[in-house]
Amino acid sequence: MAKKYPTIHKSVKGFMHGGDYNPDQWLRYPDILEEDLRLMKLAKCNTFSINIFSWAAIEPEEGNYSFEWLDKIMDDLAENGSHVILATPSGSRPAWLSQKYPEVLRVESNRVRNLHGLRHNHCFTSPVYREKTAALNRMLAERYKDHPALIMWHVSNEYGGECHCDLCQDAFRSWLKQKYKTLDHLNHAWWTGFWSHTFTDWDQIESPAPHGEYQVHGHNLDWKRFVTDQTIDFYKNEIVPLREITPDIPVTTNFMGDYPKMGPYLGLNYQRFAQEVDVVTWDSYPAWHSSYQENWELARDVAFVHDLFRSLKGGQPFLILESTPSLVNWHTINRAKRPGMHMLSSMQSIAHGSDSVMYFQWRKGRGASEKFHGAVVDHAGHEHTRVFREVTEVGHVLEKIQDVVGTAVQAEVAIIYDWENQWAIDDAQALKRENKEYIKTCQQHYQAFWKKGVPVDIISMDQDVSDYKLVIAPMLYMVRPGVAERIEQFVEDGGTFVATYWSGIVDENDLCFLGGFPGPLRNVLGIWVEEIDSLYETQFNEVQFIDTETANGAAVYAARDYCEVIHAEQAEVLAEFRHDFYKGSPAVTKNRIGSGSAYYLASRNSAKFQDDFYQRLMDELGILPPLLDIPKKVSVQKRSDGVHDYLFVMNFDDSAQQIELIEGQTHTNLLTDQEMSGKIELEGYGVVVLKSSQ
Ligand code: GLA
Ligand code: ZN
Repeated sequence: MAKKYPTIHKSVKGFMHGGDYNPDQWLRYPDILEEDLRLMKLAKCNTFSINIFSWAAIEPEEGNYSFEWLDKIMDDLAENGSHVILATPSGSRPAWLSQKYPEVLRVESNRVRNLHGLRHNHCFTSPVYREKTAALNRMLAERYKDHPALIMWHVSNEYGGECHCDLCQDAFRSWLKQKYKTLDHLNHAWWTGFWSHTFTDWDQIESPAPHGEYQVHGHNLDWKRFVTDQTIDFYKNEIVPLREITPDIPVTTNFMGDYPKMGPYLGLNYQRFAQEVDVVTWDSYPAWHSSYQENWELARDVAFVHDLFRSLKGGQPFLILESTPSLVNWHTINRAKRPGMHMLSSMQSIAHGSDSVMYFQWRKGRGASEKFHGAVVDHAGHEHTRVFREVTEVGHVLEKIQDVVGTAVQAEVAIIYDWENQWAIDDAQALKRENKEYIKTCQQHYQAFWKKGVPVDIISMDQDVSDYKLVIAPMLYMVRPGVAERIEQFVEDGGTFVATYWSGIVDENDLCFLGGFPGPLRNVLGIWVEEIDSLYETQFNEVQFIDTETANGAAVYAARDYCEVIHAEQAEVLAEFRHDFYKGSPAVTKNRIGSGSAYYLASRNSAKFQDDFYQRLMDELGILPPLLDIPKKVSVQKRSDGVHDYLFVMNFDDSAQQIELIEGQTHTNLLTDQEMSGKIELEGYGVVVLKSSQ
């Protein structure tokens, strides 16, 4: 059932609109700080993240604190009607700290310790760093616990990276001891008989290194797991005083995307980290208006990532904590958002479940590396800019659509995209070695639903699937314990499951399943896989449906990249390969168990295949689109509270597009308060938000 989630804090009534504010860089300019307050109101901004990189400003010397400036900013913002998301400043540290305690500095995988500099350059294990950050966080919590502006903790900033210092090596070995208990277990899990790598002493084990060991897959996987666990452990140490002193203030840390790939950051397993935060927040910086991809194509991939972040906490609304109102300064080409794109991209994040639009950054700094990064307030310092006007317009629209806050996206379809699976696939020396395209494959399956406006959750293999009608698991190479059993139960109970080539190959330690692939999925899929063939760019095969009825249209589809030679056991064969030595062998199968079905796609097929195949499944399963005939460059997404539906119709083309509302339904355009039915014209980059009763 759709429902309405509460906002993150009782004083937050509508959407949060605002962003990273760095007054600590402007303490010499009191007039500018004063002017900021006026401009914030004018831009309809109501929430600011502050103190993110302010350690040196609040503790200029060890033990010598200077909170007065922060007190004033907190008070001024409160008086101005703004909420504050208060950061703990551990993302970068003052020079005195690195000078006095070099152990806080990070050691790279080449075992060289970094010099002081940059940010995100610290060891997550260092007892000194842990003690200093927790102590400072305690002071912040004590000082601001009753402050009326405080609504959330922004813990550190974009945790990421890894440290290979001696302290981290020891912590890694302890983590391994805890996990494996004996070296014998570890040696088996890591298959160390290979190349005589057997360990006889725990102290022989180190983190992977470019000039040492980096080809033992179980080792690499455990190191990545350790890095996630150690980062979470550091985070937990940071939040001890926050939980203790401000139990009612929610805690988050901002997660990252990966660009230009348009996926999530892969250095940390966010599917694990999300369990430790109260609300998922992420920083979204897609490269709109590029020369290599059309905006509507990028919009599909961005949509996937929004859905992924939304699904990290079971569909609870997420927050966009950073986005740019205009351009960034770190893409290869820093293109300005064309007029209208800022509104459109902001609405897209909301359509997929965000309850905020926040920016990096409020005002452009004068110096250092981010002085040319987009901001609400430019160096000109006033409100008479296109960007300022567009931000204000977003603020205005957010007020108009505030009923959407807390509503849910209700998905009947889930795609399994799993971090550990991604790590293991990337590491495997097989297939098209450098470019196996796991996430892209998940995104390609997703497209068939995006085009129809059908919502999809993007979940890990451990998440509960029992409430979905359709679960798709492209390239489920790794199958952890319990996963196959859950999927089998889901199908038994009437669910529809789709798996593809390169599934059920390894266990949680990256050890191959013996006795035939797809290992533990063999029973539910009713097939076994004998070989996998990788194709060069220009090579292809074809998949031919035996009964064209089943194909829902075309009978023959192109297959590229990967084709498997499989045998149907209990499964029925729906399509066969047309060429090569596996001509006539099964390409698509369907296995019925209990009251559900499990399909296997033995090759990487064309987009047309996915469109037709999934359309048929949607028809069979009664998964209905919110509108019929959505134009190619238009995205439609729905949020609901169980009583009302909110339809976001978004045109990712720069020319006008038309859509038609379903007959007999009347909607209110929340932006104009007009009743709408029949045909709607959307201008280039236009968006409408339509409210209707269920
Ligand atoms: C990240 C950081 C910000 C800023 C922006 C620039 O998201 O969190 O501090 O550097 O990138 O885009
Ligand atoms: Zn370290």
